[in-house]
Amino acid sequence: MHFGFIKDVTAKNGSIVVGLDIGSTKICAMVAEVNPFKSRDENNSSTNIMGVGSAPSKGIKKGVVINIEQTVEAIKEAVQRAEEASGVDIKTVYTGVTGSHIGYISSQGVIAVKEKEIGQKEVDMVIDAARAVAIPFDREILHVVPLEFIVNGQDGITDPRGMVGVRLEAKVQIITGAASSIQNLMKCCQKAGLEVLDVVFQPVATADAVLTRDEKELGVVLVDIGGGTIDIALYKEGNIFHSAVLAVGGANFTNDAAIGLRLPFHEAEKIKRMFGCSMLSLVRGEEEIGIENTDGKPGKSITRSHLVEILQPRAEELFGLIKEEIAGKGYHKLMNAGVVLTGGAVLMEGMTVMAENILELPVKIGSPIGIGGHTDILNNPAYAACAGLVLQGAQEI
Ligand SMILES: Nc1ncnc2c1ncn2[C@@H]1O[C@H](COP(=O)(O)OP(=O)(O)OP(=O)(O)O)[C@@H](O)[C@H]1O
Ligand SMILES: [Mg+2]
Repeated sequence: MHFGFIKDVTAKNGSIVVGLDIGSTKICAMVAEVNPFKSRDENNSSTNIMGVGSAPSKGIKKGVVINIEQTVEAIKEAVQRAEEASGVDIKTVYTGVTGSHIGYISSQGVIAVKEKEIGQKEVDMVIDAARAVAIPFDREILHVVPLEFIVNGQDGITDPRGMVGVRLEAKVQIITGAASSIQNLMKCCQKAGLEVLDVVFQPVATADAVLTRDEKELGVVLVDIGGGTIDIALYKEGNIFHSAVLAVGGANFTNDAAIGLRLPFHEAEKIKRMFGCSMLSLVRGEEEIGIENTDGKPGKSITRSHLVEILQPRAEELFGLIKEEIAGKGYHKLMNAGVVLTGGAVLMEGMTVMAENILELPVKIGSPIGIGGHTDILNNPAYAACAGLVLQGAQEI
């Protein structure tokens, strides 16, 4: 889907862009000022954060709206906080969609080339031809990923521009989402008084924010482990060629801790964030954790190793599922730049080491490139997705 670009209030020195990340754990609105005359680059950012507001997510499960009223309230709260932090009156936003409703269709397009050489116009035309397939009425196209171009029968071409030929073909992957999920998301924004100018496939926005051009060229996997979903996007030769959304995430750790330790979810969440670790081998000694009763008075105590014994098998399972997506199809051999992790769940101690052990690839935590201001927020992997939405908007100014 493409609704245009977000250009809200025009500020003194540029334009304002607002990214709205409607996650399963938190809803985050990020307001940034974009200087359209400066190019985005690693050391010299043209986009600067003016303020961020977030609110606990309500009404969203595994990335999908399950309660409109609750989601609207949570969006309003996040937006109001971002308005207070930035001093900007937010009217339009740029948002993303993910969830297990995301589907993939392979397609092909062909055109006759009339010009002397193939240019951007012909590339756009052949991609348009490939996207003109029958999409079920309950699906919407989010993204068309060119996988390969074929010029006069010669296949394996990643960029046909500048080439000579009379017949141009494109093989693409069309990423679709359930129309109802996308429309519900938009409806929540509209009910919160916001105009949605574009909805993108969230992993693409996050990947564009945190991956360098070199990483995308060499081969890299972006893995965003949020609260209710894991988004996976694989890049090679500069382009995304595979993606997947798994309906699991950080909330599974909290559930396991809540059940295993017989605690309410919010208490288990607090303990997990403070003392959680994905690997028992990293826990030294018999550290005791005091748990508060509901009245705030000290209650029972547990050992940290007991907590980690509960969390480790879940971490192994999640990285096992991620490995299946990468290695199961033989893609790991192409991933020369390794794995970049984002999402709040990777903040848990031991996640990077476990990812390296299980995925057998170099792993690092990614932070957004080419966006400045509020470094504390930009260094937090839970905000990479929202920064990605801002940068998507900034591109279109
Ligand atoms: N310090 C921490 N230690 C462990 N886990 C953490 C920490 N901080 C956040 N998390 C976990 O990260 C998850 C939330 O991550 P994030 O904010 O990226 O999710 P989201 O974008 O709201 O959800 P999704 O992308 O799945 O819709 C939660 O499960 C939360 O418990
Ligand atoms: Mg998220």
